[in-house]
Amino acid sequence: MKTLRNWDNKTWLSSNKYILSFYKFLKLKVRFNNNIKVLDIGCGRANIISFLQRKHKFQNKPIGIDIIKSKNTKKNIIFKKIDAIKYLKKTDEKFDLILIKQTIHFFSKNKLNILIDLVKKKLNKKGQILIFSLKTKNNKIPSFKRMKIKLILSLKKDEDLIKKIKKKLIKYKISHFNFKVSISKSKYIKMIKNKYISCLLNFSRKEIKKGVEEVKSDFKNQINFTDTLICINYKK
Ligand SMILES: C[S@@+](CC[C@H](N)C(=O)[O-])C[C@H]1O[C@@H](n2cnc3c(N)ncnc32)[C@H](O)[C@@H]1O
Repeated sequence: MKTLRNWDNKTWLSSNKYILSFYKFLKLKVRFNNNIKVLDIGCGRANIISFLQRKHKFQNKPIGIDIIKSKNTKKNIIFKKIDAIKYLKKTDEKFDLILIKQTIHFFSKNKLNILIDLVKKKLNKKGQILIFSLKTKNNKIPSFKRMKIKLILSLKKDEDLIKKIKKKLIKYKISHFNFKVSISKSKYIKMIKNKYISCLLNFSRKEIKKGVEEVKSDFKNQINFTDTLICINYKK
């Protein structure tokens, strides 16, 4: 699969408001203290664990791993440019909190099985895994026609992956993280041109151009919607 480079690059996903709101959600699930060891799989620019580090001043800096190293990756964490499975196979470290946010769709079913087995093994006593993924039904991500088709296909795949994860984890709790997005049409068009979401990665320039024209005519100047993630919460 092509790589995603603009996911959290100056989008609502990197905004202070989003990170703060996500943190508030995490606080409902996780007992934070400065002793816990945190791993973020597919961390992107590491905005989330960087925020956690600022808030909690963990004795062990959180570790973020990703196959892509972006220019402005946060500096107050330990970043490792490596494939998740490779890292988990070779590390001796164990963690109290493992985050996997909006990353499972990059894995095949087989690889995901391996990933889940490995993360379970890498948990400390009372450790916790939090997996986040786009809500698969009735998703509100603003899309042009072809984008919608690809998005629905990708969400169908996610649904299968989520089923697999639930089967593997056996005991888990499900909840939803909702974030109200209000974004100007021009900014959203920039995000589309930057192929901010994986369902756009294989689009040709011509297809993106056509999509942008559609967005220009179909959406109001300010686009409002709720970005909803399913959260699978597993505790050892
Ligand atoms: C949609 S982004 C999510 C970034 C971040 N978790 C967030 O929610 O803001 C998915 C990330 O997973 C990374 N990724 C994909 N496959 C990976 C793998 N096999 N190992 C580690 N990271 C991977 C991508 O490079 C990308 O940065």
